[in-house]
Amino acid sequence: MKVLANDGIATSGVMELEAKGFKVDLTTVPQDQLVDYINDNEISVLLVRSATKVRKDIIDNCPTLKIIGRGGVGMDNIDVEYAREKGIKVINTPAASSHSVAELVFAHLFGLVRFLHESNRNMPLVGDTKFKDLKKSYAKGIELKGKTIGILGFGRIGQATAKVALGLGMKVVAFDPFLEAATLELEFFDHQTVFFNIKTISKEDVLKQSDFISIHVPAQNEYVISTKEFKIIKDGAFIVNAARGGVIDEVALVKAIESEKISGAALDVYENEPTPEIQLLMNANLSLTPHIGAATGEAQDRIGTELAHQIIEILK
Ligand SMILES: NC(=O)c1ccc[n+]([C@@H]2O[C@H](COP(=O)([O-])OP(=O)(O)OC[C@H]3O[C@@H](n4cnc5c(N)ncnc54)[C@H](O)[C@@H]3O)[C@@H](O)[C@H]2O)c1
Repeated sequence: MKVLANDGIATSGVMELEAKGFKVDLTTVPQDQLVDYINDNEISVLLVRSATKVRKDIIDNCPTLKIIGRGGVGMDNIDVEYAREKGIKVINTPAASSHSVAELVFAHLFGLVRFLHESNRNMPLVGDTKFKDLKKSYAKGIELKGKTIGILGFGRIGQATAKVALGLGMKVVAFDPFLEAATLELEFFDHQTVFFNIKTISKEDVLKQSDFISIHVPAQNEYVISTKEFKIIKDGAFIVNAARGGVIDEVALVKAIESEKISGAALDVYENEPTPEIQLLMNANLSLTPHIGAATGEAQDRIGTELAHQIIEILK
């Protein structure tokens, strides 16, 4: 059987599939040629990430297709229900990148509390002429250990973030309207495990108690953090959005930074992707990344392996 990995797949996945006799095609076929390509090559499994769209045209016109697989979480680029109605299995790998996103949150937080985001901008410009000035500017760092992190949305990534925080010696509080409590299992290199039971609390309490806030909710109709929430947040807190553009009100965020209500913020996702507002890009108190939360080699390997396992299980 043939698998077309149109947006690529990690070698780990290719190897697992080939070991079970699947032929993996790594061609990137342009969107408008996909139907013909799938039919000409009798493709059984179409794997995509976010680039390739799998709409009704493909679902209706490719009778050899048995599985559509999405490497990652969101399936906005696939007509999932329609495909399932037509008897095509639709699979994804929702947990594969949770830890990658969690680590990115801490990359931002560690950077923010020691001014790395600013230092990395200014050292190349004036590091040799104004070394002492920069040293003074970045001298008032703080540590994460012992501080409280508030997690909004205590699902896969929220819990992965909590585990990293616990490992660092932080206190974790969480809000999730659909979850009362979660038991987190922290595994250490020597196979010791420690269990933490975290009961969720109200959003207001999380906002009031947290020195750091990290958002991990799915796409929402309303902002999770806007002017009202910034009023409740502890003075001088830091905030990270590595969930979705549109869950934090970017205008309210810039105001909260300008008024020094919050000390800094990090964004991996933006209301206007892929052209974030210039007011965000130029703001020295923001630590910014271009939606790379899930983009680690390890996550890609896990995605490849998980997809391969599911395909083998379905088509065995
Ligand atoms: N930055 C990246 O590259 C990247 C990568 C993967 C996922 N994500 C995003 O991360 C987010 C979380 O993903 P996940 O896999 O943890 O999802 P998940 O479904 O496992 O968890 C989301 C949690 O949020 C809770 N929730 C829903 N509405 C809420 C609200 N208004 N307030 C508080 N909690 C609420 C849900 O009950 C659920 O427990 C998603 O938006 C996803 O798109 C980003």
